[in-house]
This record gives sequence, structure tokens and C-alpha cells, in this order.
Amino acid sequence: MTSPITTSDDITIEADHPFVTIRNAKSKYESSFMGYNDTLNLLAEKAGPDARILEVGGGRSPLGPGLGINHDRLTVNDISQKELDFLPDSATTALFDVAHPEQIPAEHLGVYDLVYSRSVLEHVSSVENSLRSTYSLLKPGGRALHFFPTLFSTPFVANKLLPFEATKPLVKALIGDKYERFPAHYAGAWVTSKSIERWESIGFSKVDPIQFFGHNYFEKITPVHKAAKAFNRYAEAKNITAMGSFVYLCLEK
Ligand SMILES: C[S@@+](CC[C@H](N)C(=O)[O-])C[C@H]1O[C@@H](n2cnc3c(N)ncnc32)[C@H](O)[C@@H]1O
Repeated sequence: MTSPITTSDDITIEADHPFVTIRNAKSKYESSFMGYNDTLNLLAEKAGPDARILEVGGGRSPLGPGLGINHDRLTVNDISQKELDFLPDSATTALFDVAHPEQIPAEHLGVYDLVYSRSVLEHVSSVENSLRSTYSLLKPGGRALHFFPTLFSTPFVANKLLPFEATKPLVKALIGDKYERFPAHYAGAWVTSKSIERWESIGFSKVDPIQFFGHNYFEKITPVHKAAKAFNRYAEAKNITAMGSFVYLCLEK
């Protein structure tokens, strides 16, 4: 067994897991965000120095370059040319909708060793079709990691049900307005035994969702926050997967 990697944030990643397991963070919810960069570093390292890597929905500020995944081996995808126009001329970009596998330009099919995304699959028209795309984009043996929020965690159910414009003041009050917001659909963005079966039927040799429970969206409303925390602890202890708030969806072709 290889020794675990301890990060500066006191998160431990088990290096012998083909993807990741994160422990020792203050909460699982926090560890999913705090540990994501380390997770990607580990995956990129395992993919090797010559690996071709695709960041899906990287937008104006892809994660790769900040992690040392440089533009010589990184392609940044987005659905929006406006987002890709923010990138330096040296960036390799790919404009396509990840939820439409049939629209992916042929030069991207079967060429990537690693495909990843953060906070993208909640915005697509179909998670399942995005996973079909992921399968098509990967080389045999290639790996993917999609990190996204999942239903039926309460804040995301509310975000799905309420009109986008109507949620603006609420989101501003709860978490501020420092982030650009994109409409979220959560179309198939949940983890149940049925969804795992469907994702497996795409053809992946491994479908391994690592789930996180809890969130901080209600932190400013103490009684609600406490109640939500207790409920999420219960859901986690009972492994009620449909109540998870975020997932690292680990895939292997
Ligand atoms: C919330 S932002 C996340 C940006 C970045 N991944 C991050 O974590 O900071 C969502 C990004 O996904 C892109 N996006 C939304 N739907 C997409 C789709 N169907 N295919 C590819 N990109 C998409 C958006 O244009 C936007 O850049």
C-alpha cells in the first residue's frame, strides 16, 4: 500500500486509490472543494507527462494552467466562444456542447488520457449524454473526473425549481455575488443505483462516484443551517446517496 499524500490543508488523499479518497477535512463538503486541485494533480501525474488532457467547461479561468497542466498538453473546452475568448492566444480550445456527443468534432474523439470538469455538469441539458461524450473523448484506459453538485440536496432542488432570475437576490444574500452564475438544470445530476447502472451501460470499465454530503448555503440562517447539518449527517451515515450534495464522478474507459 502506498503512503497517503497529506496536503497543506490537512486533507489526506489515499495515493493507492486509482482516483481519490479524501479524509480528515473539517467536513466532507469542504474537502470536496479543498481537495479538488490535489486530486487533479494526482490524476494528471498518473496520466504521465505526455498525456493529453481535456478540461470540460473550463470557461474563462480553467483550473489546469494554475496546476501546472500547461497549454501544450491541455485543451480547454466550453460551450461559449465568449468564455474561450478570455484565454491567452497560446491556449488550445475546443468549442462544443459536451451534452451533444454527436456534435463533437472528430479530432477530439478517442484522443484524451484525462478528461475533467468542475461545476459544469449541473449546467448541461443531460448528464448522461455528457458522460457519453466523455466516453467518446477518452482513449481506451483513459480516466475522467467530473465534480458537480447533485440533487436532491435542498439548495440545488430550490435552484432547479426556481426561475434563474428569481434566485439572484437569494443567492446574493446567501453567498454574495463574486461568482459569475450560469443557469443550472441538474438534468440527471443525481446518484442512485439506477443512475450508476445507466452510466455503466455507456461502456465505462469503472464508474465510481465518491459522494459528499452537506453544504454551507444556509450558514447565515443558524437554525436552518443546524437542521440541514443534522439531516445531512443522518443521510451520510445511512448512505442515502440521493441526498448527497456533491460528487466526484470517477470514470475509466
Ligand atoms: C459555473 S462555470 C464553471 C467554470 C469552471 N469549470 C470553474 O470551475 O470555475 C460553468 C462553465 O461551463 C460551461 N458550460 C455550460 N454548459 C456547457 C456545455 N453543455 N458544454 C460545455 N461547457 C458548458 C459554461 O459556459 C461555463 O464556462
